[in-house]
Amino acid sequence: MSATPRIPIPQNLDSPLPMTLPRLAEKKRLGEPIVMVTAYDYPSAQVAEAAGVDLVLVGDSGAMTVLGYSSTVPVSTEEMLMLAAATRRGLQTPLLVGDLPFGSYEASDAQAIATAQRFVKEAGCDAVKLERGGSSVQRARAIVEAGIPVMGHIGLTPQTATALGGYRAQGRTAERALGVARDALALQAAGCFSLVFEAIPAAVAARLMERLEIPVIGIGAGPATDGQVLVFHDLLGIYDGHAPRFAKRYGELREQMVAGVAAYAAEVRGGAFPGPEHVYSIDEDELGTFEAGLEALGA
Ligand code: KIV
Repeated sequence: MSATPRIPIPQNLDSPLPMTLPRLAEKKRLGEPIVMVTAYDYPSAQVAEAAGVDLVLVGDSGAMTVLGYSSTVPVSTEEMLMLAAATRRGLQTPLLVGDLPFGSYEASDAQAIATAQRFVKEAGCDAVKLERGGSSVQRARAIVEAGIPVMGHIGLTPQTATALGGYRAQGRTAERALGVARDALALQAAGCFSLVFEAIPAAVAARLMERLEIPVIGIGAGPATDGQVLVFHDLLGIYDGHAPRFAKRYGELREQMVAGVAAYAAEVRGGAFPGPEHVYSIDEDELGTFEAGLEALGA
């Protein structure tokens, strides 16, 4: 009697499985910390991929870190789509979330759905993120019903920082903390697959975690959330602008970048670059013929 043929299970241990919404929910269930980082272009996406993060957010923080605006408010949908599409080209494994910019989703459900669809169709995002509770809850519900996964973002919401009294921690009174709680529960009920908590007291975040079923990613919200997110340029020390207290630095790349470009400039000015190892050669006979040809051209 012949044994049942064994079908080999394909295994590629070098390439991790792409992140999906069920895998993300499973990570929460297992208590495995979730890692999200922002990226805005092909090289930063490749770095995030190589570092093995779970989620990449093309945050509208890119308005400041890569486009040079003084806040996230002016960035356009076209600009965000260009950043998101470049990021997509550098990623295989992490889930890619595109940030809907200010003014691109608030007016109506139809506007919110149309913008979210552009992030999926034109930039290849897996999901979108929008800010605030309130009227954003209905926009989130509409986008989810249109088949696009939505990440909510509450606490400090930079797109409406002026209305919040500036870039400051939120939920620091019982009343304001209850407001954050209401927004979190409403966004969860609207079908968001995940939430970002930004700049809220750690104790408030911890209490909310006991009541939320979806994964929560924190930034300045303490250690109780299911995961953490940092802005790429903050964590690597590339951005020279103001960094909030929660933005821990894991590198000082700006210093290295300035030193590298300054060394290059000094070598060009001093004649040390390019050296013999940086130039292409031409056969002596070909050079002679070329010189004769130049003479003939009258050059
Ligand atoms: O735009 C962004 O980078 C963000 C994160 C801080 C969550 O929204």
